[in-house]
Amino acid sequence: MTDSTPKTIDTLLTETRQFAPSSEFSAQANINSQDIVDAAHTDWQDWWASWAAKLTWDKKWDRVLEWDSPFAKWFDGGKLNASVQCLDRHVEAGLGDRVAYFWEGEPGDTRELTYQDMLDGVCKTANGLRELGIEKGDRVTLYMPMVPELAMAVLACSRIGAIFSVVFAGFSATSLKDRIHDQQAKLVICADATWRRGSILDLKTVVNEAVEQCPSIENVLVYTRGGDCVSAASDINRDVAWADLIDKQSDVCAPESMDAEDVLFILYTSGTTGQPKGIVHTTGGYLTGAYTTTQLVFDLKPESDVYWCTADIGWITGHSYIVFGPMANGATQVMYEGAPNHPGLDRFWELVDKYQVSIFYTAPTAIRAFMKWGDKHPAAHDLSSLRLLGTVGEPINPEAWIWYSKHIGNEICPIVDTWWQTETGGIMITPLPGITHTVPGSATKAFPGIEAVIVDDDGNEIEGAGAGYLALTHPWPSMLRGIWGDNERYKDTYWSRFPGKYFAGDGVKRDEDGNLWVLGRVDDVMNVSGHRLSTMEIESSLVAHPSVAEAAVIGMSHDLKGQAPVGFVILLGDQQPSDELAQELRAFVATEIGALARPEAIYFTPELPKTRSGKIMRRLLRDVAEGKEIGDLTTLADSSVLEALTAEYNQRNA
Ligand code: WT7
Repeated sequence: MTDSTPKTIDTLLTETRQFAPSSEFSAQANINSQDIVDAAHTDWQDWWASWAAKLTWDKKWDRVLEWDSPFAKWFDGGKLNASVQCLDRHVEAGLGDRVAYFWEGEPGDTRELTYQDMLDGVCKTANGLRELGIEKGDRVTLYMPMVPELAMAVLACSRIGAIFSVVFAGFSATSLKDRIHDQQAKLVICADATWRRGSILDLKTVVNEAVEQCPSIENVLVYTRGGDCVSAASDINRDVAWADLIDKQSDVCAPESMDAEDVLFILYTSGTTGQPKGIVHTTGGYLTGAYTTTQLVFDLKPESDVYWCTADIGWITGHSYIVFGPMANGATQVMYEGAPNHPGLDRFWELVDKYQVSIFYTAPTAIRAFMKWGDKHPAAHDLSSLRLLGTVGEPINPEAWIWYSKHIGNEICPIVDTWWQTETGGIMITPLPGITHTVPGSATKAFPGIEAVIVDDDGNEIEGAGAGYLALTHPWPSMLRGIWGDNERYKDTYWSRFPGKYFAGDGVKRDEDGNLWVLGRVDDVMNVSGHRLSTMEIESSLVAHPSVAEAAVIGMSHDLKGQAPVGFVILLGDQQPSDELAQELRAFVATEIGALARPEAIYFTPELPKTRSGKIMRRLLRDVAEGKEIGDLTTLADSSVLEALTAEYNQRNA
């Protein structure tokens, strides 16, 4: 229906299979009655307040919600600390010996950290940060791999009221620098390296390069993971070794009592412009959302489940469903450092068996890779500990859903396909595994306390079966509070298209049973392996190359990644197209933004297809890149460009 609707949608919309929860699952489920859902729908503020009340507050809030559209305050007047929710209250309840993380490094080294261990580590880290002069409200940028110290650093910042911002450790020095600069951070916490597919990946060199251009940075705190394998320089006035600073600290640290609306973190995500947005989340509402959804969507039983979310903490999924949601619930988790295909294609299934994982949350792109690698890999392991599966990040094609159910879930695990965003902070549209009849490819219905609607171009709500834009009608506790330093962009991006409603940027369809099918982005944003990238961002990177005059980027549908960027490039006068230059441009984007953004292909062209008013017609370029028949050309100024590009496509794919 939209410009960026992936190919998988065609099969998705003909899907009619339904899977009811088994009576055994329903009987033990955290939610097994529709009454609760209906009540939450009517009295959504009461519903959220009843969940907020399950957290540990230093002072109760004065008011549940203040809504000065589009600015929300949830639980205002209340005071609490995020690390206390995740640690102290479990230890005080006598659960200090419960394992918080079974951690496994890629090379096979293991660590087991209890809630007491995590509390001690977080207090030491927090005291170390205070020694470096970090105070409440200061910004701290984290650039770390999946080691327990990343979770500790996040919680340590929250303990002293510092605003943390995790940058995925696959982003380039330029991307890291831009983010540090935007938030004017004082400190970077990083690791020297991590393991990736059997090799050491140097992170410190990237940090050095970024920080050289960031005058706001006073110190870099470096956790050692690579050790002697890493040759990056260190600056004795700036760099502090984790072992030197943190290990000697006291394991007692009084938590800062924060206002419910104090900023907890900033997390950058792509929008339709070249400039990533620093999404701002606050404390009380965010925790309420993460806590509630973790318990109800994953049907979490903290005393008996072993939960594994395969995301990286560098994305919102890791913030909400590796750190805050599961830890606020006192869950036992698996955390894994490395690649799913190292040393073998069965690494994940080996881990599920080894740690007796019962709840497993991953992305459709990973499921499609598992399918391609073959059924024999999961079949070689005992996966009978699993009782619930989840997916997130992009629409899941029914074929992958069915494979996941059969080969991982033994056809007995319910699958929760969860739709949400960096901005929503927590899951918004999802099955409730004890009551929902799931349909492969549909995230089904809004979570209790959330109202999702479909609107047409004019903002009219579409009732019953139909398609249009996905919008949310009222505020929710874990919603973004703004874009760091840019309230206007916050209003424009999310609240102006359909005044009074939150515009998600996704197209959606509702079927006869009321199930929602999220179809993909309707703006110039693509979804690569479940991660958001903007066409503008990659275009700006391409035109920054000295050989490039103009560039257009589109997301083409891709079997494994969902979508993959493809660049159409006009070279400067004296430059000649060549395979070498194409490779150079692909590598250039990877160094400028990060490997995720590397274009799948580059097409050189003397012109770009434009409307008579000069707007690039990306829809037509997508047809070229996907080898489809070229769509409607009526508004195109000059169609010869497309003929040449199509010939080029045919030659490459002959
Ligand atoms: C965009 C948000 C939420 C964590 C991961 C991505 C797409 C996400 C689904 C789903 C269909 C989905 C949407 C959304 N998306 N989950 N279950 N079904 N689409 O977070 O980077 O903020 O991206 O991912 O397009 O808008 P994000």
